[in-house]
Amino acid sequence: MTGQITLTRPDDWHLHVRDGQALHTVVPHTAAQFARAIIMPNLRPPVTTTAHALAYKQRILAAVPEGLDFQPLMTLYLTDNLPADEIARARDAGVVALKFYPAGATTNSDAGVTELRKTYATLEAMQRAGMPLLVHGEVTSPEVDLFDREAVFIEKQLIPLRRDFPELKIVFEHITTKEAAQYVAHADRFTAATVTAHHLLFNRNALFSGGIRPHYYCLPVLKREIHRQALVQAVSSGSAKFFLGTDSAPHPAHLKEHASGCAGCYTAHAALEMYAEAFDAAGVLNRLEAFASFNGPAFYGLSRNTGSVTLKRETWTAPESFAFGEAQLKPLRGGESLPWRMV
Ligand code: DOR
Ligand code: ZN
Repeated sequence: MTGQITLTRPDDWHLHVRDGQALHTVVPHTAAQFARAIIMPNLRPPVTTTAHALAYKQRILAAVPEGLDFQPLMTLYLTDNLPADEIARARDAGVVALKFYPAGATTNSDAGVTELRKTYATLEAMQRAGMPLLVHGEVTSPEVDLFDREAVFIEKQLIPLRRDFPELKIVFEHITTKEAAQYVAHADRFTAATVTAHHLLFNRNALFSGGIRPHYYCLPVLKREIHRQALVQAVSSGSAKFFLGTDSAPHPAHLKEHASGCAGCYTAHAALEMYAEAFDAAGVLNRLEAFASFNGPAFYGLSRNTGSVTLKRETWTAPESFAFGEAQLKPLRGGESLPWRMV
């Protein structure tokens, strides 16, 4: 039984850090584990201009603890009218990608895309610039069952999008189903996917075990066990198309433990530990380094990090909560014991 594992310093290719005081709680957690992270732009108002992204980047950097070396990789939020000429400006300023939220799909997505056709000039510019589109892959039609929204998205939106933009780099974010895992596994080199630790560890029973468990609620929602197994199989296969993206998404505890609770699981406090647990359970700890540290930079055309992190098999108890501005932040599995620990 492997007792310890050392990885090239990894990156988080999908992360929410919010803004203001919240940054001072969550940025240190991520910076302690990862060298870089793709920062989601779903603030209020959303990050839709290069200038806004650069100002946000400075606020994030100001929350990185002294002595840690962490680089936020900024994104813009695609809207129906984000001008195509913003793409060259964004690329020249170091913005790495755009995020596509179907309007209404999730937290702060009201300004998202109502119809992909409306964004075609911008997508054209992105394809030309080699700028990846990061996709929240769920349809929003109320008549589609919540648990089917990702699979329907592939048929209704992703396949047509790929046909119209054959060389647009697409990351299918936080995939949750066997349909998505299969789609990506069989796709060409312009397509990749991120997978969260919580979708590798849990199925939808976690939402209802012994009562309703709001801290396990995120979007896309946890699915049946066969889907979890398909995700584990995808990351175990060694395919370079799958890489680490925590989708750590902090919300104040009182807004999750609420009659209409917010979607989002906070995992940044113990992200690598949870991935190690999932890979270990599948018997593929030897695949973790490529997933966490190599496949993402290869897809984005960035260099690998230098330095390393070490995880060891040692039981510890994650904190139950963190101060979060005036509120509290309750991490996923807070107060529970975890089998892996970062050294
Ligand atoms: O659960 C989620 N939370 N899914 C998302 O897509 C957004 C995120 C958030 O920002 O809270
Ligand atoms: Zn997200």
